Amino acid sequence: MNFDEPIDRNQFPTMKWSRAFLEEHFGNPAAIPMSVADMDFQSPPAVIEQLQKRAAHGVYGYEFRPDSLFSALEAWYQLRHGWAIQRNHLEQCPSITSAIAILLDQHSNEGDGVILQSPVFFEFRMVIKSSGRRLVKNPLKLVNGRYQMDFEDLAQKAAVTQNKILILCNPHNPVGRVWTKDELTKIAAICAKNDVFVISDEIHGDFAFPPHKYTPYLTVSETAAQNGAACISPAKTFNISGMVDAFAVIPNDAYRQRFLNFAHRYQINKTNVFSTAAVTASFQEGAAWLDALLDYLQGNVAFIREFLQINQMKVSLIEPEGTFLVWLDFRDLGLDVKVLEKKLSQEAGVALSPGYWYGREGAGFARMTIGCPRQTIQQAMVNIYNTLE
Ligand SMILES: Cc1ncc(COP(=O)(O)O)c(C=O)c1O
Repeated sequence: MNFDEPIDRNQFPTMKWSRAFLEEHFGNPAAIPMSVADMDFQSPPAVIEQLQKRAAHGVYGYEFRPDSLFSALEAWYQLRHGWAIQRNHLEQCPSITSAIAILLDQHSNEGDGVILQSPVFFEFRMVIKSSGRRLVKNPLKLVNGRYQMDFEDLAQKAAVTQNKILILCNPHNPVGRVWTKDELTKIAAICAKNDVFVISDEIHGDFAFPPHKYTPYLTVSETAAQNGAACISPAKTFNISGMVDAFAVIPNDAYRQRFLNFAHRYQINKTNVFSTAAVTASFQEGAAWLDALLDYLQGNVAFIREFLQINQMKVSLIEPEGTFLVWLDFRDLGLDVKVLEKKLSQEAGVALSPGYWYGREGAGFARMTIGCPRQTIQQAMVNIYNTLE
């Protein structure tokens, strides 16, 4: 596990590193790619071995997700997070966002409101808009450098009859909050009282920095479990998002049956041979690798924190409690949003996701993906310093 080793990702059509992608979104094909939320690290050795073995077999006909995959997934969530997922509550789907889109369709009608806690992962907005639902914001509040949920505002929005769903991001992309049991319990109470269905996106659940601890939303109460669904996937954890595989956990029998009917109707629960191998190996053998990764990521955060302090920069780090994303606050520079974006991508040559992509509450911020060798972070920070200061 040498997370310092640079790996050439341009050998394959990698979204984050593609020159066309960087040109299209940042106007600079040579920018350091730090926007797309995947990591520049190799997956755990056991995953690579199992994939090599699977590839060497040479027959790639239909497969199903084997018992060993589900046993490994269940053991993972039980041991790491104290969550006893019942196997019959799991539904299969190609990706987290497709699970969210299906759940959205099934628990609301066109024109209904869907509540988001902005700034938040932009694909939620795309799914809401493209399904003819209405975006209703329950913006997070930044209090003394730490984002908080606004429960009063949520209670008001939830009380509006047309608002049918809350999409929760637990832990939160991009602000890095790992929501506490107390916060999630409040969410569950407000939403159940107002008949608002909760879709909890937990793709970043494995990334919590001690003492912070990921709480699976469905475990906070039976009310939460019966009135919600969680979307989980090992895609981010083991850097296997290109395998395209995810699960929805739906404890409510009627809701789960609805999801399953959809899966049958549109035939979305097929799998691919490589994903089966990678997911099983990850959950079975990835624990030590993930522990080392979490240490390394915290080292990257510490590097950024110290760099900003030592150089007395007018940029603040919003301390992440988890994820492999950092949310940087550039507002003290007083720059226009578009000017800031251009300076970062074209003058500093660093492709950070502009904060406004996550909603207007993100204006003046930018998100940096830190799942990369420290050397890359160092280069990016030096470039930003030279440009802005
Ligand atoms: C919070 C969150 N949800 C979902 C996704 C995408 O997951 P998938 O590719 O499984 O749809 C991402 C990727 O960045 C994410 O950060």
